[in-house]
Amino acid sequence: TTKITVSTFQAMKNARQKIAMLTAYDYSTAKLFDEAGIHGLLVGDSLGMVMLGYENTLPVTMEDMLHHTKAVVRGTSQALVVADMPFLSYHVSTAEAVANAGRLIKEGGAQAVKLEGGAAIADKVTAIVRAEIPVMGHLGLTPQSVHKFGGFKVQGKTSDAARQILDDALRLEEAGAFALVLECIPEAVAKLVSERLTIPTIGIGAGGGCDGQILVYQDMLGMYGAFKPKFVKQYACLGELMKGAVRQYMEEVAQGRFPAPEHAFSTDASILDKLY
Ligand code: KIV
Ligand code: NA
Repeated sequence: TTKITVSTFQAMKNARQKIAMLTAYDYSTAKLFDEAGIHGLLVGDSLGMVMLGYENTLPVTMEDMLHHTKAVVRGTSQALVVADMPFLSYHVSTAEAVANAGRLIKEGGAQAVKLEGGAAIADKVTAIVRAEIPVMGHLGLTPQSVHKFGGFKVQGKTSDAARQILDDALRLEEAGAFALVLECIPEAVAKLVSERLTIPTIGIGAGGGCDGQILVYQDMLGMYGAFKPKFVKQYACLGELMKGAVRQYMEEVAQGRFPAPEHAFSTDASILDKLY
């Protein structure tokens, strides 16, 4: 297997081959997805919600991101690994943004970083790219802006808002981003942005006109509570499968049916004689 790189992503867009990404946050899951052939794994700061149980992504720290990124990298041999820059790790200054992006590459082992925002962070994107670190942009419903948006809502629904997204997308491409996540924006807007950009767009809740797709794996595998956003397709119900397996295990332990003889270790019974 050959390692997928940011150049592979660009080549795929050029060849009109769709890119499929998923999130991953740990070694064993990353290994399964990588073995299945996934093109890219995002260590998303969504880990704050799905792995750590926070209400939003804001509390996630650089240490959290490094911890999970290292695990994903150890489980990955083929997929492109992108690590999210957490809230406040790139907002304070350009110097801090470059240093923190560098940590995700140098210590974490990721191949690229992702930042949320448009023109307002374009200078930071340029600086990080100058440090030889590939940057993925993220526009539309950027979850780190939850308080500014007043909740998790579809973005880009007016012509002004759509124009803003297109301008920001062009700005990020100009700043050197290698790809762009478009989250929860109207399909027609995402399609237009994808056509106007040279770099690939990766959509989530942005329709079929993007150059690729990404989903949070707990959503697509049915492992994360009752909440299912409109844009999620559930490809499996692992949550129910896991609960069923746990119930069966408990029942068998209660009835003494587990462990069975084949699960136990044996030795010569005569050793017991010497124990008394
Ligand atoms: O954190 C995350 O999982 C993300 C994707 C949903 C794009 O940013
Ligand atoms: Na994220």
